[in-house]
Amino acid sequence: MIVAANRPPVTYGRGSDGALVPHRGAGGLVTALRGLVAGAEVTWIASAISDTDRELARAHPAGRAEDIDGGSARVRLLAHDPGAYAQFYGHVSNPVIWFTQHQLWNLPSEPSFGPDFVAAWDNGYRVVNEAFATAVAEEVASRPAAPVVLHDYHLYLAPRGVRQRAPGACLAHFVHIPWPPPDALRVLPADVARSIVDGLLASDLVGFHTPRWRDNFAACCVELLAARMVGAEVVRHAGREIRLTARPISVSPDDLHAMAQSAPVLAEEDALVAERGELLIVRVDRTDPSKNVVRGFLAFELLLERHPELAGRVQLLALLDPSRQDVPAYVAYRAAIESAAARANARFGSADWMPVRLEIEDNFARSVAAYKQYDVLFVNPVFDGMNLVAKEGPLVNTRAGCVVLSDNAGAHTELGEAVLSVNPFDVGQQADALYDALTLPPGERASRASLLRAAVVAQPISAWTDGLLADLAEAVASDGRRIEIS
Ligand code: F6P
Repeated sequence: MIVAANRPPVTYGRGSDGALVPHRGAGGLVTALRGLVAGAEVTWIASAISDTDRELARAHPAGRAEDIDGGSARVRLLAHDPGAYAQFYGHVSNPVIWFTQHQLWNLPSEPSFGPDFVAAWDNGYRVVNEAFATAVAEEVASRPAAPVVLHDYHLYLAPRGVRQRAPGACLAHFVHIPWPPPDALRVLPADVARSIVDGLLASDLVGFHTPRWRDNFAACCVELLAARMVGAEVVRHAGREIRLTARPISVSPDDLHAMAQSAPVLAEEDALVAERGELLIVRVDRTDPSKNVVRGFLAFELLLERHPELAGRVQLLALLDPSRQDVPAYVAYRAAIESAAARANARFGSADWMPVRLEIEDNFARSVAAYKQYDVLFVNPVFDGMNLVAKEGPLVNTRAGCVVLSDNAGAHTELGEAVLSVNPFDVGQQADALYDALTLPPGERASRASLLRAAVVAQPISAWTDGLLADLAEAVASDGRRIEIS
């Protein structure tokens, strides 16, 4: 199997003695894909992220074998020109495509596309996508029937590039973030919006986490490219038929349970138990505007205003992974998070009670410890392709905790019946939902918690991988091709 994603499974630095020091690749996508390597022979094509990665990429242009979570993959790193990569990642992928698909724009004032954006698109996004397409096509040349799965919003032009170089490639593209309705995509310059959709349609299969994102994409194909739909899952475009699918990604319950019993998590849990008060609300996120942390703090303030009896009894613990600090909008959002937390504490805190405890660091062990300890898990994204926090928490929670979940998170499709649903923009409703979650009768908490666990276990990560490959096999079979997995 050939996998292509911006992030590698492992990135490297060097210790003071010059030895290679591996760092586990970050992010939900990488975690999910790491599970793949146990079951198949995988070549993973990714961008070199660190200087040491770039050194390794130059020394091993065909890739190196890496041990990953008990399996092994050949990891082929692409050493992009640093200027092109900065344009690709910091000027197009995150501040423009991510913002567009999560509908984060403040439209009266942003975005404005001028020559800078055109340059970043041409000299960054296109260039990096061409490098991926070239590498994928080289791999396909030696294994023409291997399934190829490209991932995410960084690589929308790559399928078209692969198709030009390797017309018979068995090609899937999986989009891990929400797909918005056509009007939201029309914010982009028209040629950019069209080439994104057209690029994806060079695949045989385009995958999404939920039918809602899949159907929005279908509407964009029809409106922007005058493509035709045959039912909900087949697009006719430029003389080809392309399959669409909805396959929800998940987590590995076994891995998470093992992690929950590991020494670092137990140590963090001891510390949390020693610090916690009577009631604990937890959120675990990246410092990303799509995660809606600031409105979450406002909702918590409103909860304290409406229920003074909770003073001194409840704490909101926000464990946030610092994210994309090379993008100005993310730097500004992090500052907004810090001042919203400070405001809530100044307004309601006392000498022996800090209502909001904000910790901005990359510490997964602490997050898992907090999952075990929450009474309420608060997940209120503006939009989210899936949101794995909403799946991870209930698997290891020990307090029959309740989940308050945005109905714009992909995970809501599977978990909706067991959570307290909220509109991510309605701060008053979120305050009420937090109160309800804190005060549900024990019997209802327990039954919701076990429903949640059952819903997560019903869709293991293997179902996502197997389903995607079955969909790809079916898509290519329509013109007589077959995929082969070794
Ligand atoms: O699908 C979204 C995603 O690519 C996830 O892998 C992860 O949660 C996040 O974005 C990682 O972003 P970045 O690679 O920019 O840190």
